[in-house]
Amino acid sequence: MKAMMINKYGDDAIFESQDVEQPTAISGQVLVKIAASSVNTVDTMIRKMGKDLPLSPDAPAILGMDFAGTIESIGEGVKDFAIGDEVYGCAGGLADLPGTLADYISADSKLLAHKPKNLSMREAAAIPLAGITAYEGLVRAGIKSGQKVLVHGGTGGVGHIALQLARHFGADVYSTAGGDPQMALIKKLGATPINYKTEVV
Ligand SMILES: NC(=O)c1ccc[n+]([C@@H]2O[C@H](COP(=O)([O-])OP(=O)(O)OC[C@H]3O[C@@H](n4cnc5c(N)ncnc54)[C@H](OP(=O)(O)O)[C@@H]3O)[C@@H](O)[C@H]2O)c1
Repeated sequence: MKAMMINKYGDDAIFESQDVEQPTAISGQVLVKIAASSVNTVDTMIRKMGKDLPLSPDAPAILGMDFAGTIESIGEGVKDFAIGDEVYGCAGGLADLPGTLADYISADSKLLAHKPKNLSMREAAAIPLAGITAYEGLVRAGIKSGQKVLVHGGTGGVGHIALQLARHFGADVYSTAGGDPQMALIKKLGATPINYKTEVV
């Protein structure tokens, strides 16, 4: 299969298309043909900082954590998925787990879910890590209906999901932004925008 490999880390690190062995699904895994993947802040940090960042893979590596795609084969013991299922998840690109900037990933079936039918592959691939981060942040903070919640960076990768989830949990949501286009988007997503450059938060 083809993968975008990073051969060394640093500010000038580049990704190169290379032929690598296609993985197979071992027990508890599914083999997914990747249709879309996304790049998170942490992927860019790994590229730049390499082994200075805990859990960075050894180079050469395939980076990328998020993906959406279609299951092509199933390992022993996997019950909740079938060949042909459209799925999305966050399952590689850290430590010894190959990433998603590739044609295929053999992913732990506990790290993926069925793709909602109303999302495209590209939309679904944009959600997992940022969505998990936003969800865990709100739930660990004990969010409750009727609370006032402040989301910093409400148009960022994590922030724009946190803002919408906070509304879903019934909160009255406020969110910081650094310019007019961001303020407009926050308003459109249903929160009260605060310009952190011109107002005191
Ligand atoms: N992306 C992930 O999956 C993920 C996972 C785990 C942890 N994290 C962490 O979560 C944080 C956000 O990540 P991200 O990927 O969402 O980043 P991002 O997409 O680059 O968004 C960053 C946001 O921060 C806002 N911002 C910048 N300076 C600010 C300031 N002085 N006051 C208030 N807001 C400010 C920006 O707002 P303006 O553009 O309006 O200025 C922007 O909305 C980072 O610390 C990242 O390491 C991210």
